[in-house]
Formats: sequence, C-alpha cells, structure tokens
Amino acid sequence: MKLMIVVAGAAILAGGAVMAAAAAKDKVKYGVDYKPQWTENGELKQPEDFRRLVFIGSPLTPNGLNDGAAGFPEYHNVYVQPKAFEAYRKSGEWPEGTMMIKELQLVKTDDSNFEDGSRLEPSGRGFFPGVPNGMDVSVKDSSRFADTNNWGYFNFGHNAPPYAASAAAAPAEACASCHIANADEDMVFVDFYKGVLDPLPKP
Ligand code: HEC
Repeated sequence: MKLMIVVAGAAILAGGAVMAAAAAKDKVKYGVDYKPQWTENGELKQPEDFRRLVFIGSPLTPNGLNDGAAGFPEYHNVYVQPKAFEAYRKSGEWPEGTMMIKELQLVKTDDSNFEDGSRLEPSGRGFFPGVPNGMDVSVKDSSRFADTNNWGYFNFGHNAPPYAASAAAAPAEACASCHIANADEDMVFVDFYKGVLDPLPKP
C-alpha cells in the first residue's frame, strides 16, 4: 500500500514537471522567440497558432455599409507578437521581425439577420462575429523588403481555414503601395490600434 502511494506520488510529480516544461517552452515561443519562419525558397510559413499573440484591434467593413459588396466584408482581427508590442510601447517603433497578422472574420449571418447584415442580440442591434474567413500578414524585415519601406506583405487565402502553409511576398502593387500611400505610421494603420496599445492607468 505504502509503495503504491509512493509510486502514485512520483507519477504526479513527474506529470507536474512535464507540464511545467511545456509551459516554459510556450513562454519562450510566444513571449520571446516568436519570429517569422521562412521556407527554403523564401516564402513566409504560416505563423503557428497566432491567435495566442497580442490582439490589438478589429476594424470592420461589412457588406451592409458597402453597397452589399465590400472587398473584405469581415472583422479584421489584428495580432502582433508580445515582444514587438512591448518594444512599441517603449520606443514607439516596431522592431525588425515584427509580424502583424490580420485574420478576417465574417459577420455572423443566419435567417435572423436584417438586410444590412446586422442582427438583434441581447446586447442590442449590431454586427456580431461569425466564422473566420482568411488571413494576411505583414513582416518588417529591412534586408528582405527595403524596396517597400522595409515591410513585406503576404496573403494566406481569403477563405475559411485551413489557410495556406506558406505564402510568397505579394507584389508591391497588390499590398504595399496602398500601405505606403495611406498608413498612419511606418506602414501600419496604427491609429486604429492606439486606443489599446498604452498601459492602463493605475486604478
Ligand atoms: C487599398 C488599400 C489596401 C491594400 C491594397 C491592402 N491593404 Fe492592408 N490595410 C489597409 C487598411 C486601411 C488597413 C487598416 C484598416 C482595416 O483593416 O480595414 C490595413 C491593415 C492591414 C494589416 C494589419 C496591420 C496594419 O498595417 O494596420 C495587415 C497585416 C495588412 N493590411 C496586410 C495586407 C496585405 C497582405 C495586403 C495585400 C494582399 C494588403 N494589406 C493590401 C489597406 C490596404
């Protein structure tokens, strides 16, 4: 009996150690070491489980407000690495290796929607998030993308997941040119994210 208790105790301890090791690995990966990964022919690999990164905003361009035919009729959920987020807070600049990941998420739709795509929920009438529908990434890398203000742009599909495993840099006229012409700061539409970038005031 005594032996069984000792054995069970050791198993619990071992389980704890495995979990602690996994947590430490996650901390390294998502906290510090979450960098763009490239294939041998220079395509960007799909950033792994990017929904665990820092969520900084969600512009919305629904069909109902774009004559029924928005180019991107979805929420644009934007994520960035914790390390880049911290660096921006400190210096106001996105460091080399920053990735902005934009996942598109359609407005929730079923028979109860109004014609403009809005619906009634207990919180009121409005637009509500539905299914994911595509993903785009921008990467700051001055050695690869000097020609387009140090940022490269990648489309991983405008469809439900799974998204492409890797993507080639899009031609400048497809993406970078509009960011060059219109972005608020260093190729990023940061004014849409600024409301949540600063540390919260102390209560
Ligand atoms: C016609 C202009 C235009 C083009 C072309 C364009 N974008 Fe953007 N992009 C925007 C605007 C405006 C935002 C912010 C507002 C929004 O998401 O609706 C944005 C936001 C982004 C973001 C979030 C980070 C940021 O910079 O704010 C990523 C990532 C992104 N775009 C990638 C791409 C990729 C990849 C392409 C090409 C496949 C592309 N964009 C083409 C206008 C454009």
